[in-house]
Amino acid sequence: MRNIDEDTITQIVLARHTEAENPRLKQIMTSIVQHLHAFARDVQLSEEEWFHGIQFLTDVGHITDDKRQEFILLSDTLGLSMLVTALNNRKPRGCTESTVFGPFFVEDAPHYENGDDVGNGAKGEPCFVTGRVTGLDGEAIANARIDVWQADSDGFYDVQYAEAGSAHGRGTLHSLADGSFHFRSITAESYPIPHDGPVGRMLAALGRHPWRPAHLHFMIDAPGYERLITHVFRSGDKYLDSDAVFGVRSSLIANWERHESGKAPDGSHQESPFSTLDFTFVLNRLDGERHRNQ
Ligand code: BEZ
Ligand code: FE
Repeated sequence: MRNIDEDTITQIVLARHTEAENPRLKQIMTSIVQHLHAFARDVQLSEEEWFHGIQFLTDVGHITDDKRQEFILLSDTLGLSMLVTALNNRKPRGCTESTVFGPFFVEDAPHYENGDDVGNGAKGEPCFVTGRVTGLDGEAIANARIDVWQADSDGFYDVQYAEAGSAHGRGTLHSLADGSFHFRSITAESYPIPHDGPVGRMLAALGRHPWRPAHLHFMIDAPGYERLITHVFRSGDKYLDSDAVFGVRSSLIANWERHESGKAPDGSHQESPFSTLDFTFVLNRLDGERHRNQ
């Protein structure tokens, strides 16, 4: 095929996909080509602009390594991660909503018993977390695996520190026979996503800030139930309505109660301020309905 022009090129590219063996790949690539071509036509993309675009994606690739995942940040800040999360986690009303995974989960975090200090020396004010894992009918889910991770009060996850060391502010525990769990950690604070790279430059150029409202990450697994990946957000945070990655759901906002000093839920006496948080997670059964939260 020769003399391809701006009017014929899209259909000609798509015609080259006819031999694709994987029908889903063919469907996805067909749609991507159609949308990319439509975008270039829509904005009448100049050659200089496209060169800048290629340079930007090159920079995103160059800064990415096993610790810094700039492509996830790009997907998150464009709202694509949250859209994919929403499309794939339609649940009945009453189930805990899902939100973005983010780039800071670590496999094989240390295992803790209920009551342990998951903060493990992370910088921040103490926080005592209690909660329950249940099904939609209120049934207790015992022995659910609960992964929790959070940033310290300087806004950094342990894996963002240059020196590789033990885990701080992350760990795994299991719910007790009545579905309850409790642990100590540090009080979540709002923090900016990494913004010293191309995604940060993109946000600045768009007049956007990089901040996320204070939150605790949870991933909960239990046999017979769908995996839940979510956060609990801290009520009153000034970034709840402008989260840089669009992850906030009203149902996930909870009150972190602040105490000046006194007896903590674990029975210890705290001389300085601390907070308490209580949250119930409701999982969808694997054979449960798959409809949109209302
Ligand atoms: C996080 O909450 O850990 C996070 C999510 C998206 C981008 C960066 C960080
Ligand atoms: Fe986070």
